[in-house]
Amino acid sequence: MSEQNQQIKLAKRPEGTPTKEHFDIVDIPINDPNDGEVLIKTVYLSVDPYMRGRMSAGKSYVKPFEVDKPINGTIVGEVVTSKSDSFSKGDFVRGMFPWQRYNVVSASHVEKIDPSIAPLTAYLSVLGMTGLTAYFGLLDIGQPKEGETVVVSAAAGAVGSAVGQIAKIKGAKVVGIAGTDEKIDYLESQLGFDKAVNYKAANFKQQLKEACPNGVDVYFDNVGGTVTDNVLSLLNDFARVPLCGAISTYNLKPGEDHGPSILPKILKTRTTIKGFIVSDYQEQFPEAIKDLANWIAEDKLQYEVTTIDGFENTPTAFLNLFEGKNKGKQLVKVSEASS
Ligand SMILES: NC(=O)c1ccc[n+]([C@@H]2O[C@H](COP(=O)([O-])OP(=O)(O)OC[C@H]3O[C@@H](n4cnc5c(N)ncnc54)[C@H](OP(=O)(O)O)[C@@H]3O)[C@@H](O)[C@H]2O)c1
Repeated sequence: MSEQNQQIKLAKRPEGTPTKEHFDIVDIPINDPNDGEVLIKTVYLSVDPYMRGRMSAGKSYVKPFEVDKPINGTIVGEVVTSKSDSFSKGDFVRGMFPWQRYNVVSASHVEKIDPSIAPLTAYLSVLGMTGLTAYFGLLDIGQPKEGETVVVSAAAGAVGSAVGQIAKIKGAKVVGIAGTDEKIDYLESQLGFDKAVNYKAANFKQQLKEACPNGVDVYFDNVGGTVTDNVLSLLNDFARVPLCGAISTYNLKPGEDHGPSILPKILKTRTTIKGFIVSDYQEQFPEAIKDLANWIAEDKLQYEVTTIDGFENTPTAFLNLFEGKNKGKQLVKVSEASS
């Protein structure tokens, strides 16, 4: 094969905000698959905020990346050579693989996907980890009821945009929080949010209060920090808070995270706050994917992807998540699919 393989490794662990210096791109060979293995060409690669946690050494729900070893993430690719009865050349597949242009992996770690059902990008967004996160966090923990007020932060991102639309499907009043006026307009005029508020506005707190005249029944938290403190101050009795992510804290140095400052409010409102990891719901994924696919087909659930072209731009795509440069799911387009 004449094409060159490349791999992205963790060069060193960041303290604070990572930069391109924390990644190394190296040339490596393209190996031939052995029996039971497939050679996969990466078409799209997913960059996700949780990967920031894996760049640090601390203990978490998933093992840290190792320095000088490849970073792993979810990839959609095309089978180039198959030494497995389960896959043929030209099949589209998904899996957690090293950030490489080509990977040789055991067929048992590969899931076939069907591009005639949905575009390849959907399998890394609304029909993938982020759509499932929105679905289970909101429906299992948030449990929105008709007429209740649901607030979601990072609302124009991959998880948040799905949360708001699913809450609308369930008859809730939905308020989104995002970081640019263009995103505010997108949420209100395209995704049908009842109201959206820019957390960078000087009068954010006042705007949020006005957007939630009946208080907040469900807060789907993607960001933590002061945005969350402001939402928590509006909670109603027996509110539910699915704790999904805390991106505003991911680049803090040790000792800089002071946690939520209004715990007494949680006590007084008897609010339930519950952290969750989407993989907790693995056994229920097939049912959820049916619902998500039906809502897409019925035009009730839209999804957007922001793509950066070029494998070498993967670190930039990842770093952009922390600057809010993405709308919907941030992906990297690594190659053209050949079939
Ligand atoms: N629990 C789970 O199983 C699970 C699974 C997937 C994702 N998550 C979490 O869910 C959250 C959203 O993930 P995603 O993949 O959908 O990413 P995303 O929302 O598509 O992208 C991240 C967004 O976060 C916002 N942001 C960045 N820095 C911020 C800050 N300092 N303060 C407030 N907002 C900030 C940016 O939008 P703005 O322009 O609005 O700032 C950015 O676009 C993340 O916290 C992630 O870790 C959890």
